[in-house]
Amino acid sequence: MAFSKPENQRCRLDFPALARTLEGQPVTFLDGPAGTQVPRPVIDAVVSYYVNCNANTHGQFITSWESDKMIWEARETVAAFLGAHGPASISFGANMTSLAFALAHALGRRLVEGDEVVITQLDHEANRGPWLMLEEKGVVVREVVLRPDGRLDPEDMTRKIGKRTRIVAVGMASNALGTVNDVALARRLSQHVGALLVLDAVHYAPHFPIDVRAIGTDFLLCSAYKFYGPHVGILYSRPGLLEHLRTDRLSTQDDSAPSRIETGTLNHAAIAGVKAAVEYIASWGEGATLRERAVSAMEGIAAWEHSLAAYYTNQVQQISGVTVWGTDFSSPRRAPTVSITVNGHSPSDVARHLGERGVFVWDGNFYAARAVEVLGLAARGGLLRTGMSMYSTREDVDRLLAGIAEIAAS
Ligand SMILES: Cc1ncc(COP(=O)(O)O)c(C=O)c1O
Repeated sequence: MAFSKPENQRCRLDFPALARTLEGQPVTFLDGPAGTQVPRPVIDAVVSYYVNCNANTHGQFITSWESDKMIWEARETVAAFLGAHGPASISFGANMTSLAFALAHALGRRLVEGDEVVITQLDHEANRGPWLMLEEKGVVVREVVLRPDGRLDPEDMTRKIGKRTRIVAVGMASNALGTVNDVALARRLSQHVGALLVLDAVHYAPHFPIDVRAIGTDFLLCSAYKFYGPHVGILYSRPGLLEHLRTDRLSTQDDSAPSRIETGTLNHAAIAGVKAAVEYIASWGEGATLRERAVSAMEGIAAWEHSLAAYYTNQVQQISGVTVWGTDFSSPRRAPTVSITVNGHSPSDVARHLGERGVFVWDGNFYAARAVEVLGLAARGGLLRTGMSMYSTREDVDRLLAGIAEIAAS
């Protein structure tokens, strides 16, 4: 379904945070890659959980039954969002990083000295650190090289995935440069050698529809606070895989999927918000099923965000002293996240200049520290990152451009 200016203007009314002002001026949120704002139905779902059915799970009274039902329905809703087989393939956790550690720990128990895990130089540390820890037990971790143009080197990926490879851990989209990676290649190569594929979809999920079955991935991780929901991590596991993993868990814990990797009491109220976030996104789409509506909405939102990011990129590179990093917008397979540097000004100085004027963007490495290092930007303070969301507008971008032009000329 088309998502253009009228839909964008209408959706903005749903986000109470957009009414925030700074010194009498509205603020501009272009910080979505670090977490988006939250629409009213998500806030209402969290409040309603606390008001109406706050309880622990598996009890013999109505608020507990309602909690069980809500959590199961949230798994069904997220399964529809990701194209997953069903609710049993969706686990929840504190955030993506915690789930990645739990998964790496469990998968690591199967590995022996000399086994190999392939990671990338472009990934967020959350999809590197947990795998690098396996080096302690003699696992060899190999890194796919990031090219200066912001893409992973496909030939290097082909060389690095070999017969000793047991796990391939790749991001679907870069939170630093917006690159969309060739996960079909990662799937082909990993399948060829019988390795498991683990995808980090944290930056991809807010901007593109996902179909875990079409990708054929074994595991996929994402985080609801990047797509208008609360702080909850999500793990998709291909049916049959989680049941055979030796996860960290208590003897008292339900050892079937999807609970097998979920430790302790989950954040029930936030999970109610995750369900509402997917339903909110789907409310902008068309179709007979929740899945169809979610996919149609994501396609519309993606096109809106892509056009804003392309506009920003075209304009910002005309400002003297600005360098845009990463790939261009000639392909729709590009996340609407744009990183720049400004000659003579550190990213944090530029971000502060903008922040003081009510324009919120991020500076630094955004935990994609290896990518920033490989690009030679670590000593310069990394990048200035702008991210488009469904509520972003042309006016937001023009305000940002004016602020950058001001500091670049100073
Ligand atoms: C690409 C990517 N992967 C992983 C993470 C970590 O997610 P979480 O904060 O849920 O642990 C982030 C967070 O910024 C991210 O952008």
